[in-house]
Amino acid sequence: MADKEATSIIELEPNNIPNHIAIIMDGNGRWAQHRGLPRVAGHKEGMQTVKKVAIAASDLGVKVLTLYAFSTENWKRPKDEVGFLMKLPVTFFNTFVPDLVKNNVKVQVIGDVDELPKATQKAVMDAKKRTEDCTGMVLNFALNYGSRLEITETVKTIAKQVSSGIIKTDDIDEQFISKSLLTGFLGKYADPDLVIRTSGEERISNFLLWQVAYSEFVFTDTLWPDFDKNTLVEMVHEYQTRNRRFGGLNKTNK
Ligand code: FPP
Repeated sequence: MADKEATSIIELEPNNIPNHIAIIMDGNGRWAQHRGLPRVAGHKEGMQTVKKVAIAASDLGVKVLTLYAFSTENWKRPKDEVGFLMKLPVTFFNTFVPDLVKNNVKVQVIGDVDELPKATQKAVMDAKKRTEDCTGMVLNFALNYGSRLEITETVKTIAKQVSSGIIKTDDIDEQFISKSLLTGFLGKYADPDLVIRTSGEERISNFLLWQVAYSEFVFTDTLWPDFDKNTLVEMVHEYQTRNRRFGGLNKTNK
């Protein structure tokens, strides 16, 4: 009931829903700490939020939802916490893939998956396989993802293509680079329209550095485990108040 009341206050413009939303899910540790719980309890609750927000985004008509689940820097965390974070995708996909299929949501992953534990790799591959025929929203997990690593590897791949004569240096333009990055498979939706970061932190943390060139950023103090459909609607509403000019002028100023 409360849920219904809160969402009904905000009316979204149906023709201006961001196609691609990317979220830096932050604040799990603090959420747990505030309750006197171990940090991993925050990650567990954060996983429940992923379920709710994925369905809410799909219901809104979002085409791609990219979630920053584990960065290349997160390996620096205590071994037990890393171990827990590696098991989360296994639990998540084991319990949630049927709901994703029911909602026509397709799972994808960006990041260095080969370096993940075997069980995590298997869970990810199985989820991708089981949702491969879904044609609705793409739920894109950034797992063992770092944007500088992504760009470095892409530069190496392109350099090899040039040195082996597959392409010429002059063939390299912005579009070619976009297609060569890990998000290239998303085609016209590769760049996020809206980037959300939770928990009051306002930084990009090595996330989609090339792709966010013209994204709108919205920050909320809400900790990720407390984020819900209503918070998502608020963030999209804020996005809808923005005037995106992509470096140009307003139509009225032309
Ligand atoms: C940041 O909070 C959160 C993470 C590093 C992990 C995010 C993972 C999830 C939300 C669950 C992912 C679920 C699946 C299905 C892969 P933090 O620990 O840095 O919080 P703090 O800043 O309060 O310490």
